[in-house]
Amino acid sequence: MTVIANRLKQLIQALRAKMTEENIALINKYLSGREKDLFNRLDLPTRKHCVLVAGKCLELSPVYKVEPRLMAKAALLHDIGKGSGNMSIIDRSLTAALDFFCPWLLRKLARPGRGNIFRNFRHAAYIYLHHPALGADLLKLTGTEPMLIELTALHHQAAKKDDPPELELLRKADGMF
Ligand SMILES: [Fe+2]
Ligand SMILES: [Fe+2]
Repeated sequence: MTVIANRLKQLIQALRAKMTEENIALINKYLSGREKDLFNRLDLPTRKHCVLVAGKCLELSPVYKVEPRLMAKAALLHDIGKGSGNMSIIDRSLTAALDFFCPWLLRKLARPGRGNIFRNFRHAAYIYLHHPALGADLLKLTGTEPMLIELTALHHQAAKKDDPPELELLRKADGMF
């Protein structure tokens, strides 16, 4: 029930997303020009999600004993792979819901390439499932530091005992918004 409530909260946040001047200042402070170009390809709800995750990562960096600058950048960039999707909010929400209720079906349907309503949904499912790897590939092209590429690539993988604290914090903050 908590997961469903969280999904609903995320959907409402996505529909009401707005960038404040404070949000924009945070993006300008931590991202390079090339990283910002990639970031601005994300839809507004995803950009807002990343900014909220960055705020939480900055807040909790002392607790996890990690570098705040690195965590802010990781949070802003972790979903950058979704920028290659051109997905609607409805497709994004449906894919997230299907992943929760029937993950095998989502994996079966996922296929890249936009077209009619059904193909667009299949494309959204593909991006949803593969955005960590797609994002890591995009970041390699921008010369982003290796740790950030690794955090992006691994942020949806199941937790392991020897995960670095940076990855633990990113996953925790990511799950909150
Ligand atoms: Fe993600
Ligand atoms: Fe995320």
